[in-house]
Amino acid sequence: MGVLTKKVKGAEDILPRDSYKWQFVENVMKKEAESFGFKEIRTPVFEHTVLFNRSVGETTDVVQKEMYTFDTKGGESITLRPEGTAGAARAYLEHALYNEGLPVKAYYMLTCYRYEKAQAGRQREFHQFGMETYGAADAKADAEMICAASSVFERLGIQNINLEINSIGCQDCRKNYTAALKSYFEGYKDKLCPTCLSRLDRNPMRILDCKNEACHEIAKGAPTVLEYICGDCSDHFERVKTFLDAADVDYTVNPTIVRGLDYYTRTVFEFVTDCIGAQSTVCGGGRYDGLISELGGQPTPSLGFAMGIERLLMVLEAQNIEIPKPSTCDLYIAALGENAEIKSFRLIKELREASLIAEGDIVGRGLRAQMKYADKIGAKFSMVIGDDDITANKAKIKNMANGEQFEVPLDEGFLNAFLEKYLENYQKTISMSLTQN
Ligand code: HAM
Repeated sequence: MGVLTKKVKGAEDILPRDSYKWQFVENVMKKEAESFGFKEIRTPVFEHTVLFNRSVGETTDVVQKEMYTFDTKGGESITLRPEGTAGAARAYLEHALYNEGLPVKAYYMLTCYRYEKAQAGRQREFHQFGMETYGAADAKADAEMICAASSVFERLGIQNINLEINSIGCQDCRKNYTAALKSYFEGYKDKLCPTCLSRLDRNPMRILDCKNEACHEIAKGAPTVLEYICGDCSDHFERVKTFLDAADVDYTVNPTIVRGLDYYTRTVFEFVTDCIGAQSTVCGGGRYDGLISELGGQPTPSLGFAMGIERLLMVLEAQNIEIPKPSTCDLYIAALGENAEIKSFRLIKELREASLIAEGDIVGRGLRAQMKYADKIGAKFSMVIGDDDITANKAKIKNMANGEQFEVPLDEGFLNAFLEKYLENYQKTISMSLTQN
């Protein structure tokens, strides 16, 4: 097989046999976000490169090493979004969403692109579900955001996922911490990677999340941020914890979490699990009070999170959480002869109008092959009609599970006659499963 039939490294296909799993978790996410009062936002897959440079940050791994950036034919520098926060913030400003009343609450599901080393749980094209709130300074907003992420995991029945929280302070108290980090890393100048050497002066905090093994080891001994945050930031953090306690959300304070993106201030958090290998962070987020003004807006306290949908599905699989299979074909109509084919085409349309799943042959198969196909797709009922049945104006429908048959008229009475038996059978199945449980 050549290039024409191979996907690009780090990208994955979601096949028809698996897409129901995606639809299921996406529905849970959507419902949860909506129950917290969030509305969906959809932004373009690409943005001006400068948007990410300014928001994600010039010295981050994402901007320095991982962005898919290209010049258009018109000479503009464009980047495929590596994450969803920057585009949503840009849209918030561009469309003056603040005029619609604060806080503005938006959620999204989107593809993201990062040129990272592909491995289990780390792709170059991946999917994020995220939520963002603009215009909410209170610690209650931080707790609400964390509760929203947590309740998605809960709804899906996920266990052993640990919430780790930290505060990285505000722009002001960060200065003391940055100075402490700088003097610590100065002592390891000869061991840091070239990227981190350049970060030493510009943004030493970024050395803490460098993926290089040597830098990672050195970072383990670095001073942690909580010792340096100011009184206001400390009070804010305490209040976040109070509200998390009130909502019975368990957490541990992990003073080493700083997140890999530059826009964060104060609260940061991650949901981590040990059941999916090295890429153990399923969800990450935090407050970003400086981002909206950095992009040219009024100072707007904001916050959010994003979770990786691939990693979430890996957790469901690792924990043997079964996702309900989608319904299969309710009635397959096999037809033999031109008149029967025309008739079945019409009946199938009627069934679909009644919101049933109906199918018939569209590839010119013979009768036996059509029945084999009905079996393969798991049709609940099947019906065979030939030209004789049309003359007699009746045909037999077979329950594929138990072989029982019943007769239906082929005129206007068809749909009601089928529905009656269909519902009867459905009720029987339900009461059987109730007595079994
Ligand atoms: P992030 O930590 O870079 O944060 O990404 C969030 C989540 O996306 C990660 O926890 C992970 O599950 C998933 N993820 C990241 N990179 C990959 C990858 N290469 N392959 C598969 N999954 C991946 C953000 O993106 C922030 N925008 C989150 C946020 C929203 N903060 C505030 N609002």
